[in-house]
This record gives sequence, C-alpha cells and structure tokens, in this order.
Amino acid sequence: MHASHWTSIRKQFLLGGILSAMLVTLAGVSYAESLWSQKKLEKFPQNSRVLSDARQMILEGQHTFRFDTFGDEVFWGDTLQLHQVIAGEKNGGIGSGVSPRMALAVGLKIDRHALPRSLKKKLKRGRVNLDDPATTLTLLKLNAVIGVTGFFDDYGTIQSIGIQCALCHSRVNDSFAPGIGKRLDGWANQDLNVGAIIALAPDLSFYANLLNLPQETIRSVLNSWGPGKFDAQLLLDGKNEPTLIPPAFGLAGVNLHTWTGWGSVTHWNAFVAVLEMGGQGTFYDPRLNDEDKFPIAAQNGFGNIRRTPDRVTAKLPALQFYQLALQAPPAPRKSFNKIAAKKGKRLFNKKAQCSTCHVPPIFTEPGWNLHPGKEIGIENSQAERGPEQGYRTTPLKGLWTHMKRGFFHDGRFQTLQDVVNHYDRALTLELSPDEKQSLVEYLKSL
Ligand code: HEC
Ligand code: HEC
Repeated sequence: MHASHWTSIRKQFLLGGILSAMLVTLAGVSYAESLWSQKKLEKFPQNSRVLSDARQMILEGQHTFRFDTFGDEVFWGDTLQLHQVIAGEKNGGIGSGVSPRMALAVGLKIDRHALPRSLKKKLKRGRVNLDDPATTLTLLKLNAVIGVTGFFDDYGTIQSIGIQCALCHSRVNDSFAPGIGKRLDGWANQDLNVGAIIALAPDLSFYANLLNLPQETIRSVLNSWGPGKFDAQLLLDGKNEPTLIPPAFGLAGVNLHTWTGWGSVTHWNAFVAVLEMGGQGTFYDPRLNDEDKFPIAAQNGFGNIRRTPDRVTAKLPALQFYQLALQAPPAPRKSFNKIAAKKGKRLFNKKAQCSTCHVPPIFTEPGWNLHPGKEIGIENSQAERGPEQGYRTTPLKGLWTHMKRGFFHDGRFQTLQDVVNHYDRALTLELSPDEKQSLVEYLKSL
C-alpha cells in the first residue's frame, strides 16, 4: 500500500515532467519564463495593488529626493546665513551676492522644466542678466536650482535656504545650455564644489565650535576639497580626507553603502538627512559613541539624535525605494570599442580576477562586501575612519557618468587606465598593454 502510493506519485511526477517538457519545447520558452510574463502578472488582481503601491512609493521617493529639505533650512539659512550671501546687499542680504554665472561655476544645476517659456526665450536671446544676483533669486523662486530651495516672505525677500539630496546626487543633460537641462537623478554631481559653497557663509562659528578651530582654518579646509568632493566624516572625527560624491543609482542588490560601508541605503539616508544636511529628524547609531574613533560625534551625542518634529523618518521608506529603482544608465553606443570590450569582459571574469569581488551583474559581492586596503593594494586610512575598517567593493555600473574626478574613494587614480595599471601591479596580474586596454574598454561599457 505504502509503496504503491509512492509509485503512483512518482508516475504523476514523471507524467507531469514529460508534459511540461513538451510544453516547453512547443512554446520555446521555459515554464518559469512564461509565468514571468509582465502582461499576465499585471492581470493578477493582487498584483495591481502591489504595482500601484510601488508606483506611489517611487513617485513619493522622487519628490523627497528632489524637493525635501527635511527642515534643514534651520542650518543652511538660519545658522550659516547662506541666503544672505546669495541675495547680496542690493536684495536685502550681505556682500555682492551670487550671480547665476557664479552659481553655475560652483556646479549648481538648473532644471529647464522649471523655467517658464518666456524666460527660456529671453535666455536664448541673451536677454537675461546672468551677472545679477536678482536673477538667482528669480531662479530660486521658480524652484529651478536643483537641490536648493529658497524660502521667501510675502514681499519676495529671501528668508532662508535649504538643500536636498539632488544637490549632490543629480546632474542635468545640458540640453538647454551648459548646466541647464533635464534632471538626471542619481548622477554624481562632479562639478559641485560643496566646500567652496559652505565657505561662502559669513559665520562659520558652528564648525569652529565643534572642531575647536579658528574660522579661517575651517574656511581653508572647506576650500581645499574642490569640485565633486565632500567629507561626510569631518564633523565626526575632525579629519580632512574628502571623498568623491558617488552616484546614487545602480544600488539595488548592494548590501553595504558608501566607500567605507557604513550601512544600508536607508541607514545612510537617515545619517545624511540628519547629520550632514541638518534636517529635523531621528538618527540612531551607537557606533558613533566610540570616543577614539569619532571624538567629535561622541562628545556631541551624534549617535542618538531626536529632533522634533521628525521630518525625516516618515520619508525613509519611499526615499529608499526610489534609489533602488534608479538604474545605472547604459553607456552611449559609440563611447567604447565593442570588440575590445568583449575581450575585456573575458579578462575581467578570468585572468584579471576582477569578478571575484565585482561579481556581475551587481559588480559588488552579494553579502559582506568589504575589504581591508591591502587586498586592493592601498593603505587603510580612510577605511579606518569608517565603523567597519574596510573599503566597500564599488558597484561598477555607470562608471562612464563620472570620469571627471578620478576613481577610488579619494579620486587617486585619474583614469580607468590608471586603475587597471594599479591592479595589474598590486595583484601581479601580468596583463599585456593590449589586455589592459581591453579591460578599460569593458569598464567604459558597463
Ligand atoms: C553635500 C553633498 C551630499 C548630499 C546633500 C547628499 N549626499 Fe549622498 N553622498 C555624498 C558623499 C560625499 C557620499 C560618500 C560618502 C562616503 O563614502 O564617505 C555619499 C554617499 C551616498 C550614498 C552611497 C552610495 C553608494 O555607492 O553606496 C547614497 C545612497 C547617498 N549618498 C544618498 C543620498 C541621499 C538619499 C541624500 C539625501 C537624503 C544624500 N545622499 C545627500 C554627498 C552627498
Ligand atoms: C579584493 C577585491 C577586489 C578585486 C579583486 C578588484 N576590486 Fe575593484 N574595487 C574593490 C574595492 C574594495 C574598491 C573600492 C576602493 C576604494 O574605495 O578606494 C574597488 C574599486 C574599483 C574601481 C573604482 C570605482 C569608482 O567608482 O571609483 C574600479 C574601476 C575597479 N575597482 C575595477 C576593478 C577591476 C578592473 C578589477 C580587476 C583588475 C578589480 N577592480 C578588482 C575591490 C576589488
């Protein structure tokens, strides 16, 4: 009885197997593939709810990424008084003001879709005064300066200013003019000189008090960073070793984030919104209580911040969702040599051993993606500033979008060729010049 029961089950399985194998052959697609037909999935009643929720999350997250200051105008405006510097004396502020030309020169970007048609026409005809800070204020009123929001009173006088994620992690496609175009969310703004912008603040006593240094020293530290860089840990440990602003796309499937693997996307989002941007919210990370490693953070209780009302926490779910939905943009067709890239791909996965760490298609390790510096042939100083003592294996998609400021956390290798030369030496790969070139073409194609 028992045995025959099993025999009949086995027969059924066998029959089912044969039938599905026949179906597979007939249809030319696997069973799993036929299930994963988008049309069919969308028709499942329970899925329409999931899909509409996902859509809603993405739209909400995008709005937060682009427009939410989390209340950080309390810092950028009220504390640093940057709005006064932008307006200039003639418009109720101080100094000579910041003209649109200056704003573009420090890497700020203009969203062409926020400009009314009449203004675009005038711009095209050269009838807009790009040297007048009043024009900058007009752009701010239009919400056209990416990642920066001005707050105005009823008389049109600027009262404060706040910043958004998009400031550092967006660019434009320059379709209207250099620095003016369609938003490219997630792209690292390699033109943005964050340090120089903060250094414009008339009163840097906030930094001076925290770091126990004269304001002039702070100003020269900030001015030393240059475009495309920022030191997110300056106010934790008082060290000045800025890192490149990385892209905020292509992050789905990646475990640890930031150059030194601070945590997940949402951990870092809360960190940045509260500790870097100065938003009103909650941030908890007891690793910051380590007096030796993070003296300034530990003394000031940065590991446990509870500012109310909390304007950050409720935004985190959709904000994370949006970043995970941002794919790395594919390389333009003629931007790399296809044949060489194909050869480079083989090298990447075999002889050059790159794929042991940069595991395709996410190009970082599934799992704990951190390494001590010696495994990639560099010193450990920046890794030791982080909480986990390692460098995170950088996900490599979209490298072509950030070629301006070098590679590795501090931009030490100017070109991809330099990166490959470095690995060739450090890992004794013995690649020929031709093989190195092919690897570079492959990296450009990702
Ligand atoms: C002032 C510029 C600046 C702003 C504003 C900013 N970031 Fe960043 N972001 C950086 C820098 C610099 C790093 C790298 C930090 C490090 O590794 O030490 C980074 C890292 C990241 C990473 C990790 C990327 C990776 O490859 O793992 C994510 C995700 C991110 N930021 C998202 C955000 C979000 C979301 C916001 C808004 C809440 C934001 N950032 C605001 C400069 C900025
Ligand atoms: C042992 C693991 C490991 C191996 C093997 C490895 N990498 Fe990396 N890779 C890393 C880590 C970790 C970083 C981050 C370095 C940093 O933060 O300074 C990195 C960074 C990079 C970057 C810089 C990305 C950026 O945005 O700046 C490139 C490009 C790169 N690797 C390409 C390669 C290539 C090509 C190979 C093979 C020749 C390779 N890697 C082999 C771990 C590895």
